[in-house]
Amino acid sequence: MDWPRGLDGLSYGGDYNPEQWPEEVWDDDVLLMREAGVNLVTVGVFSWARLEPREGEYDFAWLDTVLDKLHAGGVRVNLATPTASPPPWFTLAHPDALNTRPDGVRQVHGSRDTYDVCAPAYREASRRIAAALAERYAEHPALAMWHVHNEYGSASFSEHAERAFREWLEAKYGTLDALNAAWWGSFWSQHYGEWDQILAPRATQYLANPAHELDFKRFTSDAMLEHYKEQRDLLREANPEVPITTNFVFGQWVPVDPWKWAEEVDLVAFDSYPSHPDERAEQQSALHADLSRSWAGGGDWLLMEQAAATVHSKDGSVAKSPGRMARHSMIHISRGSKGALFFQWRAGRGGAEQWHSALVPHAGKNTRMFREVVDFGNTLPGIAHTVEAPVEATVAILWSTESWWATARPHLPAPVDYLENVAQIHRVLRDRGVVVDFASPEGDLSKYSTVIAPTTYVLSKAAAENLRWFTAGGGRLVASYLTGAVDEHCQVWLDGYLGGLTDLFGIRVTEHLPQPAGERRALWNFGAAERFCELVELRGAQCVTQYATGELIEGQPAVTVNPFGEGEAWYVSCKLADDAWDRLFEELELAGPGGRGVDVVDRGEWRFIVNHTESEAQVGHVIVPAGSWAVDKKPQ
Ligand code: GLA
Repeated sequence: MDWPRGLDGLSYGGDYNPEQWPEEVWDDDVLLMREAGVNLVTVGVFSWARLEPREGEYDFAWLDTVLDKLHAGGVRVNLATPTASPPPWFTLAHPDALNTRPDGVRQVHGSRDTYDVCAPAYREASRRIAAALAERYAEHPALAMWHVHNEYGSASFSEHAERAFREWLEAKYGTLDALNAAWWGSFWSQHYGEWDQILAPRATQYLANPAHELDFKRFTSDAMLEHYKEQRDLLREANPEVPITTNFVFGQWVPVDPWKWAEEVDLVAFDSYPSHPDERAEQQSALHADLSRSWAGGGDWLLMEQAAATVHSKDGSVAKSPGRMARHSMIHISRGSKGALFFQWRAGRGGAEQWHSALVPHAGKNTRMFREVVDFGNTLPGIAHTVEAPVEATVAILWSTESWWATARPHLPAPVDYLENVAQIHRVLRDRGVVVDFASPEGDLSKYSTVIAPTTYVLSKAAAENLRWFTAGGGRLVASYLTGAVDEHCQVWLDGYLGGLTDLFGIRVTEHLPQPAGERRALWNFGAAERFCELVELRGAQCVTQYATGELIEGQPAVTVNPFGEGEAWYVSCKLADDAWDRLFEELELAGPGGRGVDVVDRGEWRFIVNHTESEAQVGHVIVPAGSWAVDKKPQ
């Protein structure tokens, strides 16, 4: 599907919340948007209370005016359904439709995202407002795209959720015997005799059952997807030509499986908010971009939100230096985003995010920030011709949503930071100039020569077979500690872990031997391991390097390689430090034209260079000034 409808270059703009401002500001907005080269804005994300002030009573007049003004100004609209923030009249009438926390506390309105996707009243009200918007605006000439809801994320542990969870479980397992077996119900007397005995995994006395928790995450992802699909189908029916999406976001709290969801959206949209102000902001931006492109199967995706002037961090936000907004945008665009959008257009005077940065700051247009916004926006049409050129990677990192969910629990042999393990591989490769895709454990790996699988803790039979097939066919697989420790029911793979792939790796993992936090274990000529180590028994594989220190592990294999079919399977039995991964990638001859602080992405006949350093960078014949970027012809 062609998207956003009516835009064939790069999109530039962001969330536009005109309902927070008097009408005279709207004309100024459109003028400033034109000045800045803004061509796409997201309208109505949190407008439910203004659109439906009382149940069944709609006020569309203001939105009609806004859309008409935008259309007259040549700005296209990404129109949202406002269901992420139900209005006060709704939650007072239907308190059972508010979300319930794991500790049983039902939250009240006063912020946003206070909803329960399993509550029938909320589902019905969501369909009603989506249908009303579809009826009124599906044919509006400004409409480029629909934006359903916002950042699906707040899980509810309510009785509604529990009821739906039981139905989901019954459909999945068929019988309680099957469920009890899958959940290892004989431990701690968790054997269920009736479906009604099963609860959402709410706060309990001590450790909860990992299989129960993982199924609840999967269920919540599916329940939210149903809520999305109901709205999507109504919008689609009103005008099949308009693409539909919702914005994905990253966070441990997010119970959405992006691989599954990506199949249901016309383009993947992602909100990128790096959480560290130093060079990790660039690393995280590149990670977000490569994940989004990969979830989209290499197809259409869009950076839907980012902050214009600041980087968030746990100590409060930090100002972006001049040019950093453009470079962050270019990280995304170079990695395939069809544009750069922001939250939000004009900084609000009030409300919880009044201090969030915006394209138009509180001080208005005569500001350094707005000048940067204008400069960058007016540059983008100059690279519009590159928009369709594909990013072609030959190296992929496995992204296992379920391993992320399942390792974020306190019962593992030692704490595992799945996201950091993935991010670490990504950043070390990025520093070596390698642009990677991400792949699903059960997805098609055939176009990759190397697949790296960091801590793929949950490995289903199908995923294990996929890795076997990939390697046998000539692929190079590199897997790290805890790979295939458990199956899809969180049950341990017996006789050597590894998802039953002991023959593929030519080893057995016989024990997990976590080391004290903060102590590094040197490997022979190979950097060091941190915290997590395993005891490996060779069964045909060669030892690449051994542990040089550490009780029980000294002299034991740390990294191994095994020829298998036409390919080879590498195993890293510990959490390597960055320098050790770098050493391993050198051995594997993985390197590209970029380097630390200088992103180089080749796409078709084009080469994108983004220089994040404080010195001039030369890549081939192209010189890119400090803190700047360039797009040039790729050398032949
Ligand atoms: C999210 C939301 C936006 C805004 C930003 C900034 O991405 O979608 O509405 O709240 O965060 O915090």
